[in-house]
Amino acid sequence: MKILVVGSGGREHALCWKIKQNPKVTELYCAPGNGGIASLAECVDIKADDIIALADFAHEKGIDLTVVGPEVPLVKGIVDLFKEEGLKIFGPSEAAARLEGSKVFAKNFMKRWGIPTAKYATFMDAKAAVAYLANHSYPLVVKASGLAAGKGVIICQNQFEAEEAIQKIMGEKIFKEAGNNLVIEEFLTGEEASILAVCDGQSFLLLDSSQDHKRIFDDDKGPNTGGMGAYSPTPVVTDALRKVIADTIIRPVVEGMADEEAPFKGILYAGVMITRDGPKVLEFNVRFGDPETQAILPRLKTDFVELMLASVEGKISSLSLEWDERPCVCVVMAAGGYPGDYVTGKAISGLDQMSTGAIVFHAGTKKQGDTIVTSGGRVLGVTALGNGIEDAITQAYSAIAKIAFEGAHYRKDIGKRALNR
Ligand code: AMP
Ligand code: GLY
Repeated sequence: MKILVVGSGGREHALCWKIKQNPKVTELYCAPGNGGIASLAECVDIKADDIIALADFAHEKGIDLTVVGPEVPLVKGIVDLFKEEGLKIFGPSEAAARLEGSKVFAKNFMKRWGIPTAKYATFMDAKAAVAYLANHSYPLVVKASGLAAGKGVIICQNQFEAEEAIQKIMGEKIFKEAGNNLVIEEFLTGEEASILAVCDGQSFLLLDSSQDHKRIFDDDKGPNTGGMGAYSPTPVVTDALRKVIADTIIRPVVEGMADEEAPFKGILYAGVMITRDGPKVLEFNVRFGDPETQAILPRLKTDFVELMLASVEGKISSLSLEWDERPCVCVVMAAGGYPGDYVTGKAISGLDQMSTGAIVFHAGTKKQGDTIVTSGGRVLGVTALGNGIEDAITQAYSAIAKIAFEGAHYRKDIGKRALNR
């Protein structure tokens, strides 16, 4: 079987690593890939959002299954294009990808189907949005509706900050056309968790839970990032809560999308806040999370390729998932300056000293001759399974201690919340 993975981050390295475990996979390609992926797959110089070139490539190589990492090609309709051309692809259609591509769509959809989420209002012009701000309690959350690479959410402590946020998004267009529409919503408090489900349009299977660490510094301080680490499972999602999330969030999404003639296939990712009133949706993604995937896939015992094929073919209900009971922790090593401007091209040492237990997923690296150098903000996801969460944390950090590059920094508290429970 020939498989093409689309994307270039730590998530895609983890996808390639897992796919490679299926002995039927004879050829694996990744577009565009990175320095670590190159040791598992043939990297192809096509950008992840060049969906026409990707389809051409899939035809040329006779690809049997394409797996899409990032959201942009999904929102652009890569799945529809591949299907029209008779190519098998794992993921949601353009219509189903609106759950991530349009927060206005997602919020209105949740309202239509009674899915718990923060109270909100949507706006198409700045004047109406500003007028709405008076008579609301703060903090208030202002969100650009479209895709903004995880940066489109501004938490505002007072009316002045909220006006400023609206001006930046709608006036200055800091997120470009993603800011043509706005969502303003109630601020929720609680602990966050990521719940991923594999869907086939009619049915779904929940993956084990995980938790991201979005802020740059320990104890959730400092600016937001693409994710500085993750672990799975997360004890905040008890079995009882899993059932509530399946019944009140995931199932209504799958049934609602089918009813609205946009059946959801692929990975449905619900970012939920576990509030005192129960779990509420913060956002939907229509793809694997990064870095959650790096902490989830090492625990999955079920064949991953079979699982994705079952989604494509509408046969999810005939499968069940098996998990390694051991928890998994992924700690992201970032480049100096990240999440602001960062430097690249720094040589990475120590990658050859990994003990058998640790897995190093590359996020922003490339091969330069015989060395691996940094090429992105998030550089590596150093990942380990352990006999208990404490052991997994210890293993991941002792692996990190062997790796070095100039300017490297990482959080020291990944998984600590699980430990505190
Ligand atoms: P999103 O891209 O919608 O997940 O937002 C990014 C992050 O902003 C989330 O992971 C939360 O930490 C935070 N956030 C988003 N919406 C809310 C909300 N309504 N209340 C509190 N925090 C939020
Ligand atoms: N970990 C957050 C995301 O993938 O969007």
